[in-house]
Amino acid sequence: MPSSANSANRYDPDSIHQRLNTSLSRPQLNEDGHLRHFLGVEGLNKTQLQTIIAKAESFFDEQGQLINSPELEGCTVMNLFFEPSTRTRTTFEVAEKRLGANVLNIDIARSSTKKGESLRDTLWNLQAMTADIFVVRHSASGAAHFMATEVTPDIAIINGGDGWHAHPTQGMLDMLTIHREAPRPFEELSVAIIGDIKHSRVARSDISALKTLGVKDIRVIAPKTLLPKGIERYGVTVYENLDEGVRDCDVIMGLRIQNERIGSPLLANSNEYYKHYGITPERLALAKPDALVMHPGPMNRGVEIASSVADGPQSVILKQVNNGIAIRMAVLSLAMQGQREYQQLQRELQLNSTNLKQTGA
Ligand code: CP
Repeated sequence: MPSSANSANRYDPDSIHQRLNTSLSRPQLNEDGHLRHFLGVEGLNKTQLQTIIAKAESFFDEQGQLINSPELEGCTVMNLFFEPSTRTRTTFEVAEKRLGANVLNIDIARSSTKKGESLRDTLWNLQAMTADIFVVRHSASGAAHFMATEVTPDIAIINGGDGWHAHPTQGMLDMLTIHREAPRPFEELSVAIIGDIKHSRVARSDISALKTLGVKDIRVIAPKTLLPKGIERYGVTVYENLDEGVRDCDVIMGLRIQNERIGSPLLANSNEYYKHYGITPERLALAKPDALVMHPGPMNRGVEIASSVADGPQSVILKQVNNGIAIRMAVLSLAMQGQREYQQLQRELQLNSTNLKQTGA
């Protein structure tokens, strides 16, 4: 390929996401293939995703209520949210407390990053305060990966959403919700994802997790302006017509339209969007009668979804939030365990190399 084409491609967000994904699996796993960070669902196999789901299931009692499990007693978890969040930040905090961790919410708006301190320096200082896990949300794609590989490899990094790239705990809480609520197994489901696919880290994580768990029929429904270039290579079918796309579906996932896009060349106005892409009772009736309605939140009612659908009997939107606690408990616990295994192995290797040097081998 000519170098000019290469360099044009280098800065295309989809090319950046693809290159990030190919390097994701190794840094987030220890030598035994166990999670020691949770950076993305890409690169994880079906068994690894099923392990996360099974671990999350273990935090529900027989009545379906969440339980406490003090697996992180004595650990310190720092929540670093460089972007706003309601659901992710709060459910992480609830999850951390249910696991018995010491929890610190770092107030980024009042931190020295506002005085120009680099991300690297902020992290090194927090690490010196004996953190065990950082949960991070950042506007830059690759921020969690950068922290795990280049800044603080001995701290378990959990990605709470990075740029347009990935939102892996949202992806996995969506999988847990489908696993718990859908009447059929993943392999038999048709799943429709509707809305701003182009700018959605949730869509990317959901598509990857659905594919890995065996869903064959994944449909993305959006106007051309809100679809990333080459989306078909992810193994999805593209529909521009919502009525065709939702027909006989088992799961309908709405995505948030980002307000800043309304009135832009990508999206003329919200009324027009609702007319063509709003999830209304009439559109829902085209799907299977027991189809689930999902949305990661925050929702724009009357723009991407009708209130009667969001609050209706087929909606599992609030169950997604509750399942988010169990999934976040699962990834925190698994990553901490994997990080301990990794650090033990490093100590053994160090000891081995010291012994070899002393014996002159
Ligand atoms: N779904 C989601 O990530 O919501 P928040 O932005 O409120 O965390």
